Amino acid sequence: MAELEIRDLHVKREGKEILKGVNLRTGSGEVHALMGPNGSGKSTLAYTLLAHPKYEVTSGDILLDGQSVLDLSTDERSKKGLFLGFQYPVEVSGVGYSHFLRTAYNSLSKAIQGEDREVFITVREFQKYLKDNLNQVGLKDEFLSRYLNEGFSGGEKKRSEVLQMAVLKPKVSILDEPDSGLDIDAVQSVAKSISEVAGKDSTIIIITHYARILKFLNKLDHVHVFSDGRVIKSGDATLANELETRGYGWAIDSQA
Ligand SMILES: Nc1ncnc2c1ncn2[C@@H]1O[C@H](COP(=O)(O)OP(=O)(O)O)[C@@H](O)[C@H]1O
Ligand SMILES: [Mg+2]
Repeated sequence: MAELEIRDLHVKREGKEILKGVNLRTGSGEVHALMGPNGSGKSTLAYTLLAHPKYEVTSGDILLDGQSVLDLSTDERSKKGLFLGFQYPVEVSGVGYSHFLRTAYNSLSKAIQGEDREVFITVREFQKYLKDNLNQVGLKDEFLSRYLNEGFSGGEKKRSEVLQMAVLKPKVSILDEPDSGLDIDAVQSVAKSISEVAGKDSTIIIITHYARILKFLNKLDHVHVFSDGRVIKSGDATLANELETRGYGWAIDSQA
């Protein structure tokens, strides 16, 4: 199971209310897109899902597979299978990429009970698993010998984010603007990789401004429009195209 439910979520940052009653529900294995204008609170929602300390939940709830995760720390939430790809990933000098991923993968595998996940004991076994995934997202083997995000280009950071998702196999992934700063070919290849990760036990929420990346997905179940701290409209994949031609103003004006 990989179901996320956000119930009437209200969140403050530095005393100011930013999320004003978010409701969102995903079924297992679904791909959702969250679209909306700048400053509407999309990144705030992403950070809140991963328990960023600057964001205070004042009411509402976040449930993963029916259980509230509100009282859990970031680390505990990731061990339950929540994953956040950051819009601007931090550089971590001295942390080797493959070491980082192996530690994270093994820790997640041990934490997610009752599912068919191997724990890789040797570095060599893990390298093989990693390389199989690496080429799929369009990265070269030499990538593995680098430090986490250090000197990565914009495109490499985004591919690396998708690689982490492919390798870790989290239950629910939130990708905050996986298309930002990418040229059109890179957008297509990132979308293809995202599609490959999406499966029956892997739910994905893609936050984006533009319908462009969504057109390259094999599967898109629901599109939500975010405005002023809440979801104001939801629909199927055609809503993304409608937004592109009519603009966010239309969605805001036409909300019931
Ligand atoms: N660093 C910050 N300090 C204070 N307020 C912030 C900060 N970042 C965002 N905000 C507030 O939160 C609102 C939502 O921002 P954000 O979640 O980043 O929106 P989005 O990702 O949809 O562009 C902004 O309009 C702003 O008022
Ligand atoms: Mg944002």
